[in-house]
Amino acid sequence: MAEFTVRRARESDIPEVMRINMETLPENYWYGFYKHLLDNWGEAFLVAEIEGKLVGYAMSRVEEQADPVLLGLTVELEEEGSFLKRIVSMLKSLTEPRPVGHLVSIAVREQYRRMGVGSRLLEGTIRAMMDVYKTDSIYLEVRISNIPAIRLYEKYGFRKARIIKGYYSDGEDAYVMVKRLK
Ligand SMILES: CC(C)(COP(=O)(O)OP(=O)(O)OC[C@H]1O[C@@H](n2cnc3c(N)ncnc32)[C@H](O)[C@@H]1OP(=O)(O)O)[C@@H](O)C(=O)NCCC(=O)NCCS
Repeated sequence: MAEFTVRRARESDIPEVMRINMETLPENYWYGFYKHLLDNWGEAFLVAEIEGKLVGYAMSRVEEQADPVLLGLTVELEEEGSFLKRIVSMLKSLTEPRPVGHLVSIAVREQYRRMGVGSRLLEGTIRAMMDVYKTDSIYLEVRISNIPAIRLYEKYGFRKARIIKGYYSDGEDAYVMVKRLK
């Protein structure tokens, strides 16, 4: 199998990224949405290519928020840190919204899976959030049935924080998964 490389996306990549998204996920977006992410958080919009062909992408945005779930105000299925630590961090962030990375979408073309492409895209996303955007954490939503993606996220330190009932248009629930960076 040929080697793949991961690089920042360019505007000219968007149509192919949209094709990969349509092939691999039921959650699809309009051109302007991709362009908005690229223009604003381009360091965290990554593509993987093999011999000039795009085989995967990851795109994210940064949000300023004091999200009660990310802060541990509501359910945490798998707890990290002490209860007191979470209360202190919750109170602090209620007064002070913080930048949080949101992994909006990640996908790899089916025939190129299980060769580390998704991992490299996720590593690049985490690095961009830590080094460029200086976010406190990264979060994402994932279908509760999407075992490959959940395993990938867990491998990189994401933990299930809560369930959003009926999040997807077909009624499936989502896990919100969070990786704390600070
Ligand atoms: C999730 C996805 C991006 C993973 O991409 P990938 O390139 O195959 O991932 P990698 O090869 O880097 O695998 C990394 C880890 O993910 C987990 N993983 C990946 N595919 C898996 C599978 N089919 N079953 C179980 N675990 C899996 C494993 O832990 C794997 O590590 P390992 O190979 O050491 O066991 C890919 O399956 C995909 O594009 N799925 C469709 C789109 C999608 O669901 N996106 C996520 C939306 S939230």
